[in-house]
Amino acid sequence: MTSARPYPAAALFGRLLDHANRHDPYPYFAELTREPIWQLDAHTWLVSGHCEISALLRDPRLSAQDAAPADGPSGPLGSDGRPFRGPFLLLDPPHHDALRAQTVHQFTPRILGMRPRIEAMVAGLLDQHGGSGPGEIDVVASLAYPLPVAVICALLGVPPEEEPVFHSFAGRLTRALDPVETLSKQEIAELEVTRADWLAYLLPMIEERRAAPATDLISGLLTDGDPATRMVDVELAATLGLLLIAGHETTVNLIANGTLALLRNPDVLARLRADPGLAPAVVEEVLRFDPPVQMNGRHTTADIRVAGQVVPAGDRVTLMLAAGNRDPRRFAAPDRFWPERTGNAHLAFGGGVHYCLGAALARMEGQAALTAIATRLSIPRPVADPPPYRPNMLLRGPEELRVAHDGITPTG
Ligand code: HEM
Repeated sequence: MTSARPYPAAALFGRLLDHANRHDPYPYFAELTREPIWQLDAHTWLVSGHCEISALLRDPRLSAQDAAPADGPSGPLGSDGRPFRGPFLLLDPPHHDALRAQTVHQFTPRILGMRPRIEAMVAGLLDQHGGSGPGEIDVVASLAYPLPVAVICALLGVPPEEEPVFHSFAGRLTRALDPVETLSKQEIAELEVTRADWLAYLLPMIEERRAAPATDLISGLLTDGDPATRMVDVELAATLGLLLIAGHETTVNLIANGTLALLRNPDVLARLRADPGLAPAVVEEVLRFDPPVQMNGRHTTADIRVAGQVVPAGDRVTLMLAAGNRDPRRFAAPDRFWPERTGNAHLAFGGGVHYCLGAALARMEGQAALTAIATRLSIPRPVADPPPYRPNMLLRGPEELRVAHDGITPTG
C-alpha cells in the first residue's frame, strides 16, 4: 500500500539528507523504489518509479517555474516582454522553448568537432602528473574539476587565463539550482551578490563581442536569428551561467563517480583498458548506476494521478532520478555495475522539454576521461574508499578521489 500519514518517506528522506550517508544513499533509494510514489509531507511527493518519473518528466502539467519573477515585478524584462524569471532550466514553455532553441542552435554545431580537443585536454591534464614511477593523483582536483571548465571556456571563447574566475563562479552559482524554499535568507542574499557579480563580470565581455563578433558561442547568441525575439543581455548572462553550472559540477561528478565505479569493479576496468571501444557503454552505466544529478523538482499545475495516487494541483514533486535508475521493475540486477546490460534507458539526463542540452558533450568528456584513466594509469587503486563527499545532495559526488598507481604512461 502506498504510504499514508504519518509519511514514512519522511524518515527515509531524512537519511538521504544526512551527510553521514552521502557516500552511499543507495540502500535508502532501494527502500524508496518499493513504492513508485510516496508522500513526504502535506504538499510534497517523492516519485521513485522509473516508469512514473519518465512519464512525469514529459507531462506538461508539471512546472519547473517559480510562481514569482526572480527580481520581483520591477526587475528587468525578458525578450518575451515579461518580467525576467531566471535561466531557462527554471522556465516553462513557451518562453523556455524560445531561449533553449537559440542556445541549441549555437551549442550543437560547436560541440560536434570537439572530441579530439577534449581528448587532448585530458591527455594534457594527466601529463602534468606523468612519470614512470609509482605515485598518487587526486582525480577530482587534477582531471574531473579542470576539464569541464576548460571545455566550457573553449566553447564560449573565454581565454584560458579567465578559467579560474569561471571556476569560482561555477561553485558560487550552483546553489541557484536548488529550490528557493531550501535556501536560507543569508544564502539568498549571497546569491543576489553572486548574480550581480556575474552580470558585472559578463556584461563588458558581452559588449566586446557585440562590438566585434567572433566565432564563439556568445557572439553567435548576440548576432544570430531574429533581433525581435533574440535573448536580451540579462537572459544571455543567465544562459551562460546555466551552461557553466549545469555543465560543470555534473560532469565533475560523472568523471569522479565513473572512476570510483571502475576502481571498485576491476574486471570492468580491465575490459575497458583492453578495449576502449567499451567507453560509451561504461559511461552510460555510470550515468545509471551513480548519476551526477540525483533528483529534480517540479510542481503540479493540475490534479495528476500517479500510480493510483492523486497529487493535487500546486503540490511539490521531487523526481528521484537516482532511485528510478535502480528500479528493479525496469532494470535487471539494478545494483550491479554492468556496462554490457541491454536497454539502459537511464534517467540521468532527465527527459521531456528540459532534457539535458549538454548530454552529448558530457558523454564525450566522460568517455575521454575514463578511457584515459583506464589505459594510462598502471594498477590504479583508491587511497580511501569511500572517499570524502561534498555536502551537496542534488549534485552528489566525491570532494576528492585520491588514486594510487604504479605509473602514468606518457602520451605519444
Ligand atoms: C554528466 C553530466 C550531466 C548530467 C548528469 C546532466 C544532467 C541534466 C539533467 C538531469 C537536466 C534536466 C534537469 C531538469 O529536468 O530539471 C539537465 C539540464 C540541462 N543541462 Fe545537463 N547534465 C550534464 C552535463 C551538462 C553539460 C556538459 C551541459 C552544457 C555545457 C549541460 C547543460 C544543461 C542545460 C543547459 C540544461 C537545461 C535544459 C533545459 O532546461 O531545457 N549539462 N542536465
